[in-house]
Amino acid sequence: MANGNGSAGLDRMLVLEVARVTEAAAIAAARFNGRGNEKAADKAAVDAMRYELGRVSLQGTVVIGEGEMDEAPMLYIGETVGNGTGPEVDIAVDPLEGTTICAKLMPNALAVLAVSERGGLLHAPDMYMNKIAVGPGYPEGVISLDASVEDNLASLAKAKGVKINEITACLLDRPRHADMIRAVRRVGAAVQLIPDGDIAGVIWTTDPAETGIDIYLGSGGAPEGVLAAAALRCIGGQIQGRLMPSNDDERKRAAKMGIEDIDKIFRLQDLASSDVIFAATGVTSGSLLKGVRFRGDTAETETLIMRSKTGTVRRISSRFRDVGLRFAESRD
Ligand code: FBP
Repeated sequence: MANGNGSAGLDRMLVLEVARVTEAAAIAAARFNGRGNEKAADKAAVDAMRYELGRVSLQGTVVIGEGEMDEAPMLYIGETVGNGTGPEVDIAVDPLEGTTICAKLMPNALAVLAVSERGGLLHAPDMYMNKIAVGPGYPEGVISLDASVEDNLASLAKAKGVKINEITACLLDRPRHADMIRAVRRVGAAVQLIPDGDIAGVIWTTDPAETGIDIYLGSGGAPEGVLAAAALRCIGGQIQGRLMPSNDDERKRAAKMGIEDIDKIFRLQDLASSDVIFAATGVTSGSLLKGVRFRGDTAETETLIMRSKTGTVRRISSRFRDVGLRFAESRD
């Protein structure tokens, strides 16, 4: 069904609507680029995203959001969004992926959103997830969270037809990754460390010729894992994730969200199990997307928007006039 009520497929026209939502969040956050205020940047992105979502013809439920109802006033998990007409969908949001990157005006802060058919995205609790991901073109199972770093790199190099020292792994620059980083270097592969933003880290693996990154490794947010899987469902690739609860409370929260086996390895089809639309707009400029550029009262954005059903990948450049007025108040 195209765009009627009920649990419809994702209409192609929804693509542009979704892009509008991440554009608005990116513009709002970008006003705080380099201002050293992570909270204000995040709040601006959340407010703008929520406002724009309210104008879109969908009956959405937030499944990956800013937190649980009692801790996040807006875009909390379970919140209904959209204008109340149109398809019933699930929504995963990260209004500002890389709050610190934005506050420090470093590369690759993004506004991110994914829409799926109802039930199409894992309800992942906000805790760490161990992740491994590669781009398209490799045999299924080329990587595995159950295998060692060394074995994964060897298997990937073999599948790619290169020596292991021609492989580059991307990881978040964190002390907890010290062993993994050592293991990558021990076999002669290269490590690219990023300060934040592992959704981009996973997406980079889909175009190693351009980005130089073959594989993503390491732990980051579980919500970001689901969003990254939504992106890979559109472009192709493989991802696995395993939750890393740090205490009983986190284990209970996972159980409450329907996760029966805490040790389960979630594969792409578990993280993003049905058709999705994925959108990301650059907040700060990076190799994935240009950030928001303000010129007087205009703003320019760049958005990556993809639809899994067709595999279409679009980059949309947009220019907005009178952004001071338009994003502060209601607009058409
Ligand atoms: P925020 O936008 O919430 O700051 O997240 C940025 C991020 O780098 C994610 O991309 C990543 O999954 C997570 O933080 C890693 O968590 P930590 O900073 O605790 O290592």
